[in-house]
Order: sequence, then structure tokens, then C-alpha cells
Amino acid sequence: MAEDKIIVSYNGKSSECPVIIGTENEPGMDISNLRDDTGLVTLDFGYKNTGATKSAITFLDGEEGILRYRGYDIAELAEQSKFTEVAYLLLYGELPTKAQLEDFNDKLKAHSDVPAEVSAILKAMPKGTHPMAQLAAVTVALSGVYAKDAAKASEETIINILAKFPVLTAMVMRNTQGLDFIPNDKSLDYVSNFLHMAFGKTASTAVVDAMDKLLILHADHEQNCSTSAVRLVGSSNANIYASVTGGISALWGPLHGGANQAVLEQLEAIEKDGGDTSKFVAMAKDKASGFRLMGFGHRVYKNFDPRAKILKKSCDDVLADLGLTDKKLTIAMELEKAALHDDYFVSRKLYPNVDFYSGIIYNAIGFPTEMFTPLFALGRLPGWVAQWKEMKENKEPIGRPRQIYTGATLRPYSAIENR
Ligand code: ACO
Repeated sequence: MAEDKIIVSYNGKSSECPVIIGTENEPGMDISNLRDDTGLVTLDFGYKNTGATKSAITFLDGEEGILRYRGYDIAELAEQSKFTEVAYLLLYGELPTKAQLEDFNDKLKAHSDVPAEVSAILKAMPKGTHPMAQLAAVTVALSGVYAKDAAKASEETIINILAKFPVLTAMVMRNTQGLDFIPNDKSLDYVSNFLHMAFGKTASTAVVDAMDKLLILHADHEQNCSTSAVRLVGSSNANIYASVTGGISALWGPLHGGANQAVLEQLEAIEKDGGDTSKFVAMAKDKASGFRLMGFGHRVYKNFDPRAKILKKSCDDVLADLGLTDKKLTIAMELEKAALHDDYFVSRKLYPNVDFYSGIIYNAIGFPTEMFTPLFALGRLPGWVAQWKEMKENKEPIGRPRQIYTGATLRPYSAIENR
């Protein structure tokens, strides 16, 4: 039988660390009492092997390439469900009945109007401000209008942010392009209304389907950088708008959500350079170049990212539907082929991640490159909110890691004239 506790001994003191087993048989070592018992803290740069919480929302097995929301396989959800259905599943733990989903969608529509003083903020921001900065600004600004109970996981607060976020995201895109806002149309569903507000025209069924799929694939990914940021900010009892704004900021970086923008920019650069993928693969392998193949590698997937597999097919479908051929897709395929056969990538288990294909689809739909990361945020929102809600419901303590101090030890202050 497997051990149910681990004894850690240090300097004559010892601590009994219980072994915690998850529902998918993942064993974890609970070190909560380790410091009190032995004086030891654990050190784990980038939290590569640290479980910050117990969560019942998303399961992923990076070695096997498995991703499930509330027990449902991501491929099945992407093929058969709609984004708001998946949002409901993440938030409440079960797939909605028809009546529950209708009620949820009605509530989202009812709360979707954005107050004029919030949208006015966009107009006041400096020209050229990145859309992620704009999105962060208007999201946190919602706390000025909806302050009451915003730090509680109430139904109203949760619906309010989910309802307004696509409207804000579309406004951010219009503002970035110097275009007028398109009125919110409550006769349209969540995703169609977003596309209508972004482009000022009705999107085709194929485009709505592709968008739905992209949002579903991005909806949650357990304790990633931005989700951990949302939970950490929320753990201080900051309100939901401030917590989600923390997630938006974390997602912006090119090592996380910003990678989808970086992938397309890289494919464009390769195209402009003449399209020789082998040159860029060689550069990626040369550490001195500081160049990385964007869209390759993942902190937890050491196998194919299951989302990338689904998007590869979706990419072909959307391009066919829109009657487009894209040189960037050809370059992407060549890069993928070269990398999957190269020992550098194989030995490090570097496979294409979700962002490798999402940018090509967003580009085909007509989104400007700098909007790709806000689209990721739109998809990730239900996950952020579900994780924030779970943290609140579990009454988790404020997040506050320890450190190993490596600075100067005590030294006397010296007056400025003596230095
Ligand atoms: N191109 C070339 N080499 C790479 C790449 C890459 N894209 N990714 C990792 N490596 C190499 C590293 O240089 C390192 O090599 P070494 O062991 O010889 O030193 C090894 O593979 C391991 O890489 P780490 O950076 O240690 O892996 P980590 O888990 O810390 O980083 C990350 C994962 C940040 C995603 C990384 O693979 C990367 O920078 N990828 C490109 C950016 C990207 O696509 N990000 C999107 C992530 S998915 C998402 O957020 C939705």
C-alpha cells in the first residue's frame, strides 16, 4: 500500500507530511506544518512543483496530453457545446439543463450594457495604448460602479463581469482601430454579439462556430500564471474586477497569453524573410541567439497540447470557409514538421501549444494581431471567475509565499557624508 505520510527530518526535528491523493490519483505532499515543525521552508522557483490549492475545476495531465473541465474531455466540449454552456459548467460544476442555460444566457444579456463613464475611459487613453492595457483599465473601472458586494462570490457579481466583458473587449478593439462603438444587440447570442460589436456586421455561422471553439479551448487551464494571479489578488479580499485585472496583466506577457500575438508576428517575420523555416529552427536551437520559437513548448504539456490538435483542424475549416489560403499556415506547418523531427525539440518535449494555431484563425477572421491576447482573456474569463469563486467558497487564506533571503545581514547605517 502507498504511504499516507512522509516524514521529513532535519537537524534532529521531524515533521509528518500527509500524502494527499487527488481524484485522478495524483499524490501530493502536504507541507503546511513543515516550517513550524522543522524550521524548513520549501524552495521552488516558478512554482514548478508546488500545488497552491486543491481544485475541482480542471484536470490536466501534461505527460498524457489530457485536458478536462469538470471531468468532461476538452475535445468533446469543443465539438459539441457552446461557450456560455462551458462557462456555466466551469462556474457551477455541472452541465446546465436547457432551461438553466436559457436563464443563464438571459441574465448575461440583461447585464451586458456598459456604463457610459466606463466606456469613456477608453476614449481618454493615449493613442496606441495596447488593447490589454485598455481592457485592464475598463475592467478595474467597473469596481467604481459596482462596488457593492464585489468582493463576494455572489451570482450578481459573477454574471455582471461575464456579461460586460465581451462588450468591453469589442469596444477595446474598435477604440484601438479609431472606430466608433457598435451598439450592444441583445437579440444576439454571447459570441455573435461580440463579433457583431467588433466588426459591425453579422458573422457567418462558420466564424461564430470557430470563435466559440477558440473561447472554449481557452476557458480554463488550472493554476496557470494568470489564474494564479487572479486567485492571489482575490485572496486578499480584493473585489472581482481588481482580481480579474490582475489576471489580464499576467496574461499579457509573451511567455503566457501574449504568445499568440508573438506567434503571428514571428510567422510574418519568417514570411518576410523569404520563408526559410530551417534558418529559424536553427536560431531557436542556438541559445546565444536569445530566439525562441513562439507557440512551442509549455510548462506542463510535455506531450501534444490537446487544444493545439483541435485548433489545427479548425484552422483548415475556417480558412476553407472563408476561401482563404494563408502562406503563414504553410510556414506554420513546415515549422511544426521541422521541430517535431529535430532532436533539440524532441529531447526537450517541445510541442506546438494552443497559441501556435489560434493566431492564424484570429487573423483569418479579421482580428488585428494586437487583439489576439484580449481574445484569450475573453476565453479565459469563465475560468478566472470559477477559480476565484472556488477560492472564496473554500475560504482560502491570503496567498503569501515565503522566501530564502540571500541579501546582506545586519549592518550599521552610515551617514551620507561618510560613504
Ligand atoms: N524555443 C526554443 N527552445 C525552447 C522553447 C522554444 N519555444 N521553449 C523551451 N525551450 C528550451 C529552453 O531553452 C530549455 O532548454 P535547456 O533545457 O537546454 O536550457 C528547455 O527547452 C526548457 O525550457 P524552459 O524555459 O525551462 O521551460 P518552461 O517550462 O520554464 O517554459 C514556456 C515554458 C515559457 C512556455 C517556454 O516553452 C517558452 O518560452 N515557449 C515560447 C512562448 C510560448 O509559446 N508561450 C505560450 C505558452 S502557452 C500559454 O500560455 C497559453
